[in-house]
This record gives sequence, structure tokens and C-alpha cells, in this order.
Amino acid sequence: MALDKPIGRIAIVGTGVIGASWSAFYLARGFDVVATDPAPNAEAHLRSYVDEAWPLLTGVGLSDGASRDRLTFTTSLHDAVSAADFVQENGPERPDFKMKLFADIDAATPVDSIIASSSSGITPSVMQTNCVHPERVLVGHPFNPPHVIPLVEVVGGGKTSDEAVRRAMAFYAAVGKKAIRLNKELPGHVANRLQSALYREVLYLIEQGVLSVADADDAVSYGPGLRWGVMGPSLQWHLGGGEGGIKHFMDHLLPGMVQMWKILGTPNVTPELQRTLADGVTREAAGRSVDQLAEAENETLVGLLRLRAQQELRPQHV
Ligand SMILES: NC(=O)c1ccc[n+]([C@@H]2O[C@H](COP(=O)([O-])OP(=O)(O)OC[C@H]3O[C@@H](n4cnc5c(N)ncnc54)[C@H](O)[C@@H]3O)[C@@H](O)[C@H]2O)c1
Repeated sequence: MALDKPIGRIAIVGTGVIGASWSAFYLARGFDVVATDPAPNAEAHLRSYVDEAWPLLTGVGLSDGASRDRLTFTTSLHDAVSAADFVQENGPERPDFKMKLFADIDAATPVDSIIASSSSGITPSVMQTNCVHPERVLVGHPFNPPHVIPLVEVVGGGKTSDEAVRRAMAFYAAVGKKAIRLNKELPGHVANRLQSALYREVLYLIEQGVLSVADADDAVSYGPGLRWGVMGPSLQWHLGGGEGGIKHFMDHLLPGMVQMWKILGTPNVTPELQRTLADGVTREAAGRSVDQLAEAENETLVGLLRLRAQQELRPQHV
């Protein structure tokens, strides 16, 4: 596989929640996008999603040549991928389904093209099981929605070449994503495991009657979550250690944290807990639709990312 093969044409396989968002993102970055999905109304849904996302993406800044006219839709998987330089797969999250889908994609995609899956939890080794050219199959897991959130987790399977992983990392970085490389594959990759670890404790605290759903949300989003949107947890503890930084944190605060791990909880996800959760979230949403909440969140996130970018552009000396 040539490391320098230019990427100009992206195939999007599956245009549901994630595939539609990826399509909007790649169009905004100036690519030709060919999308496929067998669902009835998939094309209309995709085009309306892209239209709704376009003002936000325009505000962020479109790349040269970016145009919604460069979106093509086909119901033929073969036609979608046969001339693609990079495939971003977003089909249903079932191992047996992905194994078959990847065999079909692999058979139709040029051998020197990358095939990346958005899968949230299935490992690439599983997906490449029945591929004839598994060396270019990997996971490029985005965070929802990919047209706003920069993170992409890149991980190869047992048969993926190092070159393919490096090429995917370089591609994602070049289009403005924050790509991180996982050195080992594991179910749930990394970011979802982190989310899951925190959410287990959130549900435990709600189950135990310590917090309402809204207060648990505030405890994260007005506290540590605000800071995690600026710096990750380890760098945060460097600040938490004061002048002594991370070394002082390790002497002073880490031992208490290690003790705390022994008393963290695991909730029983009973129908009652689920009712409490659903009622609490409905009250928090206060009549706003999922689309309205997502739009408000996306606008806030774009503002935060802009601030972060300005900060990163400043000279690093004091
Ligand atoms: N929803 C999230 O928050 C999220 C975040 C990151 C990654 N992901 C991953 O992205 C993938 C898609 O998830 P989603 O939430 O968009 O699901 P979704 O159900 O919204 O979309 C899946 C789409 O795949 C289509 N599809 C079914 N069979 C197909 C086929 N043979 N070829 C092409 N398309 C086909 C369906 O019609 C549907 O539109 C999953 O692997 C999931 O784990 C989801």
C-alpha cells in the first residue's frame, strides 16, 4: 500500500446517525462523498441532515472546494466503494453483520484504499475476519457527532498493517480530527470505556438516592466535565497538585483516590432505576426536542473548540 496515495473520494457506508454526520464533515472538508444505505428514504434523510449541518460547518469554515453538490448517493454498495480512496463504515453494530459487511466492502474496494469502521465497540480483528485484504481494515471510531467532535480513535486488528494505521492517523489529522492511536484493540476501544466507567458511578449514586438525575448531570457538566473539555484528567491533576504539580498530587491526593476505588459502586439497572432516569431526563429536557438539544449543544461545542484553538495558537512561553 502506497503511503502517499492521495485521498480525494470518500465512501460512506450506512447513513444513519453517524454516517450522515461523517458525510457532512467530509463534504465540508472538500471531498467527493459517495454514500450508500439500503433503508427507504435514506437519501432524503441524508441530504436533509447535511443541509441542517451546513450553516454550522460554514461558520466553522469550509475547506476549498467544499460543496454539498459533491455528495452522491447510491443504493449499490459496490458502486459506492469501488472507486473510494477511503471508506468510512457506519452500519449496524452487530459482530456477525459487520463481518459480512466488511467481506463485501473488502471485495469491492481498491486494494490500496483504507477501510475504516466507526464501530463503537467491535474490535477490528472481528470485522476483518472474512476479508481477503484485511491489512487495510481498521477502526476509526468517532465521537458523536463526528462533524463537531474532533476525537477519532484509530486501532488496527491482528491482520492490519502498521502502514495502514499510520496512513489513517495522518489522514484524520490532515482533515482536522484529533486522532489517537490505540496500541492494542479491546472491546469498547477507549473513550467509551471511560464514559462507561463514569456512568456506572453516576447511575449508582442515583440508585442510592444520593443525587437526582439533574444534580448528577450538573455534578459532571458544571464541575470536572468543564475542565475535561479543556485538559485531560492527568494534566488536570498536575494543576490539582498546586506548585508541586503531579508529583505532589501523587503523594498527597492519589492515595485517597486509590482507597476510594474500593468503595465505588455498581448499580442494579432495574426497571425502577430506568424509570427514575427517564423521568429525570424528561424533566431536564423541559420540552426541548432531541434535535433542539443537539443544536444548542453543537453551537456551544463549536464555541468551546474555537476558544481552545485560540489558546493553542498562543505562544507557549510565560
Ligand atoms: N450513535 C452513536 O453515538 C455512535 C457513536 C460512534 C460510533 N457509532 C457507531 O457507528 C455505527 C453506526 O451507528 P449509528 O448510531 O449511526 O446507527 P444507525 O442505526 O443510526 O445507522 C445504521 C445505518 O446502517 C444502515 N445499514 C443497514 N444495513 C446496511 C448495509 N448492508 N449497508 C449499508 N448500510 C446499512 C441502516 O439502514 C442505518 O441507516 C455503529 O457501528 C456504531 O457503533 C455510533
